[in-house]
Amino acid sequence: MTEQTGFTLWLTGLSGAGKTTLAKLIDTELKRRGLKSERLDGDVVRQSLTRDLGFSKEDRDKNIERVTFVSKLLSRNGVGVVASFISPYQATRDMVREETTNFIEVFVHAPLEVCIERDVKGLYKKALAGEIENFTGVSDPYEEPENPDIQINTHEEDPEDSLVRVMAYLEEKGFVPVAETL
Ligand code: ADX
Repeated sequence: MTEQTGFTLWLTGLSGAGKTTLAKLIDTELKRRGLKSERLDGDVVRQSLTRDLGFSKEDRDKNIERVTFVSKLLSRNGVGVVASFISPYQATRDMVREETTNFIEVFVHAPLEVCIERDVKGLYKKALAGEIENFTGVSDPYEEPENPDIQINTHEEDPEDSLVRVMAYLEEKGFVPVAETL
């Protein structure tokens, strides 16, 4: 049996763009194919590994640095890492690319107005009312990926179709074996 290839599939985008939804689908599909995968998600990690951190630039960078360390260990040991973090700074994402194995930058995009309209967690409403400081897209920057490996426009495409595109990319790169059917 050949050893599984590790990779770091990095989903970046605004809050509410659809990162977690897509990450869950990818993780489920990898496991369905019998592959090892771990999902790392901002909302979850911030309740444990990085619960001491807030949303200043310094804290966001620390958040990503710690998660990068975990992703590095996993991806170099044959695990498919599916990470979903706003990760608003290009330089920080470039650092993740340097540190991890087979890094793939996925820009999960929806226009800010669409994210505000969705407002799944009710956070945009609070941020727009000035009740949350440093909120990405409202009162804090988001640097769009300059050259993402994959771009997903979630306001134009169903999550299931995005999943197919991501799996095709992983197959094309040789990071997962080609499946007969999805
Ligand atoms: S990151 O910038 O450090 O990458 P991360 O993805 O871990 O962010 O966490 C983002 C999540 O934290 C959001 O989906 C949202 O639920 C919550 N959150 C709380 N406060 C903020 C804020 N000021 N800016 C962005 N997200 C926030």
